[in-house]
Amino acid sequence: MSRPFTVELDLTALRHNVKRVHEIAPQSKILAMVKANAYGHGLLPIAKALTDVEGFGVSCSEEALYLRQAGLKQQIVLMEGLFSKDEIHLLTDYELATVIHNQNQLSLLTEHPLSKPINVWLKINTGMNRLGFSPEDFTAVLQKIYRCPWLKIACVMTHFSSADKTRDTTTECQIKLFKQTIKAGQFPISLANSAAILAFPNTHADWVRPGLILYGVSPFSDSSGAQYALKPVMTLKSKIISTHQLESGDKVGYGGTWLAPKPLRVGIVAIGYGDGYPHQAQNGTPVLVNGKLSELVGQVSMDMLAVDLSNQLEAKRGDPVVLWGTGLSVEQIAESTSSFRYELLCGINRGQLLRTRIEEIEEINDAK
Ligand SMILES: Cc1ncc(COP(=O)(O)O)c(C=O)c1O
Repeated sequence: MSRPFTVELDLTALRHNVKRVHEIAPQSKILAMVKANAYGHGLLPIAKALTDVEGFGVSCSEEALYLRQAGLKQQIVLMEGLFSKDEIHLLTDYELATVIHNQNQLSLLTEHPLSKPINVWLKINTGMNRLGFSPEDFTAVLQKIYRCPWLKIACVMTHFSSADKTRDTTTECQIKLFKQTIKAGQFPISLANSAAILAFPNTHADWVRPGLILYGVSPFSDSSGAQYALKPVMTLKSKIISTHQLESGDKVGYGGTWLAPKPLRVGIVAIGYGDGYPHQAQNGTPVLVNGKLSELVGQVSMDMLAVDLSNQLEAKRGDPVVLWGTGLSVEQIAESTSSFRYELLCGINRGQLLRTRIEEIEEINDAK
């Protein structure tokens, strides 16, 4: 067998999650956030499967071109906008939309007339203090854009800093400031990320911008995607590549940080921090071996980790292991490894061997 680390994508689950967003925000169009290689899932397979969304949010022109060159027709929005003058022609050549969030981008686009109109998403900073024009500058920015017939305002947007903290008043303050700023402007608006889609229906507006929930994961630290009828898209899998019988007191892995409390067998699994599994995972982190709950033991290595096979007398080389996904949520792994759920998913970017078994999964789902 070749190295058995795989990322399985359940595209039926992805489409189900899109349907959930449509049910929750029925009046809104969906800008699917596929930046960071679709949160580590793989940009192209995810975007291709998202046939029921109106647009894609990407972080750079490389991601956008990749989608266009693959034949995707929906609106594609550069969420960080242009990084330099050299990129301007890409907007017309590939019919890309771009966020404008600062004076530099505004100057680039207002001072360089384009051969055909492009869609712009104007971003207002209502308290996140990351990207966006200040509310005081909004009217002047609008006037500059109105003077350029090649710039069409497709949307005015803001981004929430704390929508996952539902008892915090920050989101309501941001909503209020946004509404005061745009007044009764005649343009589509967009505010909601995943947490706001679920917790603040008053933010759904014209466009919602879901990321994490599309992938089946809850944005709230005290809940899992399943509680919102979301299904995990990514299942991180590998196999046992070796087993050892240990005596009581034998150590496992770098630093010998774990001692066998009794005679037992351990399995060595081909996945490690080089693939995106968190190094900080401690003894006891749940792992599914042959579908049964097992525990990580010892330190995670670059491309391997060890599991306790005490409750798996039959387990042998080649047996399947699930690190997270169907049957073991990434939320559970984030909780037990003190990790950030977004980072666990995006971290899979680092594993270069994204051997997805999409067709297989689709066949399985079709057969159900
Ligand atoms: C501007 C913007 N909108 C929406 C999202 C989606 O966020 P989430 O994954 O929490 O839904 C992001 C993600 O970082 C973002 O930067």
